[in-house]
Amino acid sequence: MVINRQMALTKENKLISRLTSPQAVKRALTLVLSLSLFPVVSALSGCSDSQVNVKADSALVSTKATEGSHEPIWPNDDPSIPDGKGIYEKQNCASCHGADGKPVEGKSKIDFSDKAWARKQKPVEQYDFITFGKKAGETVEHPVVRDKLRPSEIWNLVFYVRSLSTPPLTDAEIAELDPVFGANCAVCHGKKGYGNGPLMKANTLQPLPANFQSFPRFYDRDDETLWDHIANGIKWEGMPNFLGKEDRRNKAKFDEPYIWRMVGYIRHFHESNKTEIATREAAKKEAAEEAKSH
Ligand code: HEC
Ligand code: HEC
Repeated sequence: MVINRQMALTKENKLISRLTSPQAVKRALTLVLSLSLFPVVSALSGCSDSQVNVKADSALVSTKATEGSHEPIWPNDDPSIPDGKGIYEKQNCASCHGADGKPVEGKSKIDFSDKAWARKQKPVEQYDFITFGKKAGETVEHPVVRDKLRPSEIWNLVFYVRSLSTPPLTDAEIAELDPVFGANCAVCHGKKGYGNGPLMKANTLQPLPANFQSFPRFYDRDDETLWDHIANGIKWEGMPNFLGKEDRRNKAKFDEPYIWRMVGYIRHFHESNKTEIATREAAKKEAAEEAKSH
């Protein structure tokens, strides 16, 4: 956690030095000039809510993972962990990584079932590694699946690998956490995590609350960062800190393990413990119910 804070500080320092360079001064002047045109432009384009959302959502997204010629292709549905299991078996990943994620001697050293390792892994970097064989800018030698699997299948694989250390919450666990999320988070993030809670609608928050359904944002986060942001909040950004707090009504005490469960809850908005077919059918049903209630 300390590391994350330090990383954030380094980022801030970088920003400050960037802001004080001669180019930055020039850029600032250009910005002032273009800002004076802004009211005219926005009046013409009718600057919509969704534009604002996209901008706020990409604010914290780093581009490092997507540098170079290969870009990840985001899924259009929640990746399915059970489907990923089937692909892991078919692609023979187990021959080096073991059926349970434990390394096979002489083949690999990484233990997929190790929580401490897994919590530092960003989904998008795992996707890049498996798809293109690259890691933080360098090319590595590893079987790649770019010509064998569809992007959605690769995302299934990524989330299956992640599940070997951190099983997704069961439906019962999700149901248990629903009221806690509803009472403590939904006012900003919305009941379904779209970042559209009542406080956001009143337009009082800047930046806007995170949209947990956003693949580019949340696949660029490791679990440790999510834990840190829920535990310690995000200073100056409207995200409160929860570590040590209590919700007596729902019998929730936000201690360390409880915040890990909240991380699992955030993840459930953009991963699935059902097969792809079941996920699609559930989404259809939900959309129909939503349409009926309007
Ligand atoms: C021929 C052996 C072999 C096969 C097959 C194989 N891997 Fe690997 N994998 C490795 C080795 C070696 C590493 C490097 C790290 C280590 O274990 O030392 C690695 C690392 C990884 C990593 C971690 C990358 C990181 O962040 O460092 C992931 C994720 C991964 N493999 C996924 C897969 C998946 C998914 C499959 C099946 C499509 C697969 N591997 C098939 C040998 C293999
Ligand atoms: C008062 C409004 C508010 C409440 C209540 C709130 N959040 Fe947030 N949250 C925010 C805002 C605003 C951001 C976006 C900050 C940013 O973009 O820098 C955010 C961001 C986040 C993030 C994303 C951090 C990242 O790494 O991108 C997570 C995870 C999160 N909140 C979880 C929660 C959880 C879990 C709860 C309830 C226990 C909660 N929030 C309650 C306003 C709120």
